[in-house]
Amino acid sequence: MTTYTRASAPRRLPLIGHAAGLRDPLSLLTSLPQYGDLVSLWIGPAHLLIVCHPDLARDVLTHDRIYDKGGMLYERLREVIGSGVGSCPSDAHRGQRRLVQPAFHRSRMAGYAAEMTRQLALESGRWRDGGTLAVYPALTSVTSRIIAKTLFSSDEITAHTDEFAAAMSTMLQSMALRMLVPPAWDRLPLPGRHRFQRARIRMRHISAQIITHYRATGIDEPDVLSMLLAARTDIGEPLSDNAIIDEITTLYLAGTETNASTLSWACHLVAEHPNVQRRLHDEADAVLGRRAATWDDIGQLVYTRQIIDETLRLCPPGWLLTRTATTDAELGGVPIPRGTTVAVSPYILHHNPDFWPDPQTFDPDRWAEPGRPRTDAYVPFAGGARKCLGSNFALAQTTLSLATIAATWHLESLPGPVHRGIGATLTPNRLRLRLHRHPPGHRHRQPPMPRNRPALEVSQANTSTAGIRDESQRKG
Ligand code: HEM
Repeated sequence: MTTYTRASAPRRLPLIGHAAGLRDPLSLLTSLPQYGDLVSLWIGPAHLLIVCHPDLARDVLTHDRIYDKGGMLYERLREVIGSGVGSCPSDAHRGQRRLVQPAFHRSRMAGYAAEMTRQLALESGRWRDGGTLAVYPALTSVTSRIIAKTLFSSDEITAHTDEFAAAMSTMLQSMALRMLVPPAWDRLPLPGRHRFQRARIRMRHISAQIITHYRATGIDEPDVLSMLLAARTDIGEPLSDNAIIDEITTLYLAGTETNASTLSWACHLVAEHPNVQRRLHDEADAVLGRRAATWDDIGQLVYTRQIIDETLRLCPPGWLLTRTATTDAELGGVPIPRGTTVAVSPYILHHNPDFWPDPQTFDPDRWAEPGRPRTDAYVPFAGGARKCLGSNFALAQTTLSLATIAATWHLESLPGPVHRGIGATLTPNRLRLRLHRHPPGHRHRQPPMPRNRPALEVSQANTSTAGIRDESQRKG
């Protein structure tokens, strides 16, 4: 029987605990497994028990009634998404998930995929040969339009859809700082506080207008809103407007930053690894030529998908998932008192050398069949009953988008570090790439790079990893 160890992280200071480590939270997190399988951290007076072993992470994620959604992340997220399927307590969860899940059934993916590539084509139509691209804002705008169209596809409300997306984006910009501040400090004049509240009111107002319009005109589109309007609860009642708004904002929030970050990190990593980029182009040339990818191509985009899987390992957007113990419990033989905040970090598990050889190396070939790792140490979409509802959607969007980009564009890195924005998700801020048109069959002229170059190699002072600098405190 495996025995698991419990420890406290060293260097806890009076009053602030380990808060000084928040200057570089990812380095702090990846240092923890050396101390134990369950490691205590204190941020000021708040105690966080970090799960560092995959067996225990699986136990937490699968026992969702014992380890329910809670902790600082979810307290703050509920301000935006209310009690939608992603943040509701476990006793309401099965019913809510049953209502929303059909929107992500495989049979709907071909339709969504068409919208994904249509929106990407609109965006990339503005890109210029030799120009530089601010990658994350560009891909966030594409992703946000894709998700908004998935939610409300009716062309009659396009202006409302754009306004909804703008209000959500304003709220999210203020989220990163709010997540680090306890709700008790909300009266402090924090930057962005009023902007956040105004955007929140605006977003709910626009959503209510869209719902009223759908109800009044009887619009029935193959979109999520039409499905929620037709849905009935366990007792046969329609959903209230507020419940529908919570679900819509949940899906928008869950699907926008996550997909945009994954795709942006993938572009960055591809640009940094010419051998990977060459193989990506080869696959795009063979499968797509110069056209955009469609749902029917997905089975053939094998290497592109390996790049996405490896990107999700190195840079999982959901880097920290918090839960609250609803009862006294036991985890790996360690007593967990009721009320303890327990955190599972995909980032820790994905960078642990005990489970991943050369964890810092970007190597899409890890995911080649046969030999593809099947391990609890890989949880970019979490697991158990609360596993990401949009994982198929996300994998389709990122794979099809990366292949479509590679069919036409060669990505070149520019000097300077990429800043890791650390908020609800892990985002590549200030990432700029130079674009060159990619002619199929034409070989690139870059000198070959050695394989296994560390993807996130250690760089200058104050730079945590490879040209990638943390920005946890800077967003506001
Ligand atoms: C690469 C992109 C994505 C990643 C890495 C990702 C990751 C995650 C993770 C880690 C969770 C679990 C959170 C927790 O347990 O605390 C989650 C939940 C969720 N995700 Fe995603 N997600 C992605 C894209 C999407 C998309 C595109 C959608 C929908 C449009 C979506 C919808 C959801 C929903 C609704 C939940 C809550 C599920 C529940 O509690 O039943 N996600 N996601």
